[in-house]
Amino acid sequence: MHLYDLYQTLHLLCAVIFAGAVFFEVLVIEPLEKRLPPGIAATLAEEIPRRVRVFMPVIVGILFLTGIGMFWIRYSAYTGPWHSDFFRTSFGILLSIKVSLALIVLGVFTYSIRASFKGTMDLCQFRYTHRIVATIMLGIIFLAKGMYYIHF
Ligand code: HEM
Repeated sequence: MHLYDLYQTLHLLCAVIFAGAVFFEVLVIEPLEKRLPPGIAATLAEEIPRRVRVFMPVIVGILFLTGIGMFWIRYSAYTGPWHSDFFRTSFGILLSIKVSLALIVLGVFTYSIRASFKGTMDLCQFRYTHRIVATIMLGIIFLAKGMYYIHF
């Protein structure tokens, strides 16, 4: 087994946990909250981030570290580390767009974790953030597979 295979497996596993949590929030928890008494909905909105911030930073950390590892292996294999035409290939371009979207998600995630520590995120902001992240996540996943099939 190569290091790349290990990175790829961990990357996929962490992406499933991270993206899965976001989609579960938008598709299941959010509609459910609208049917619950307001007090319970507010408690859920407080307790979910409390639980998420225990483990999700580790998952997101592994997701990014393995992503950077794979990026580096592919980039340096292309023409050598410092003068690469990698970013002119359709794979390199689509991967770069995917990474840019991932950095936006990282920014929103970091902001949300900090806001949840300070207790400054209200229920409305909480839902809004999940919808934005879910939409960007869709783009990331289509790009992650599209970079193999789309050639230009
Ligand atoms: C929100 C963050 C991210 C998510 C949800 C995500 C998701 C994914 C998914 C689902 C795949 C396909 C894996 C497979 O089919 O086996 C993938 C592949 C890949 N990702 Fe990410 N990714 C994220 C961040 C990053 C970052 C920050 C980098 C690099 C700096 C990166 C680099 C890569 C690379 C190089 C591949 C290709 C792996 C292969 O050879 O199949 N990813 N990503």
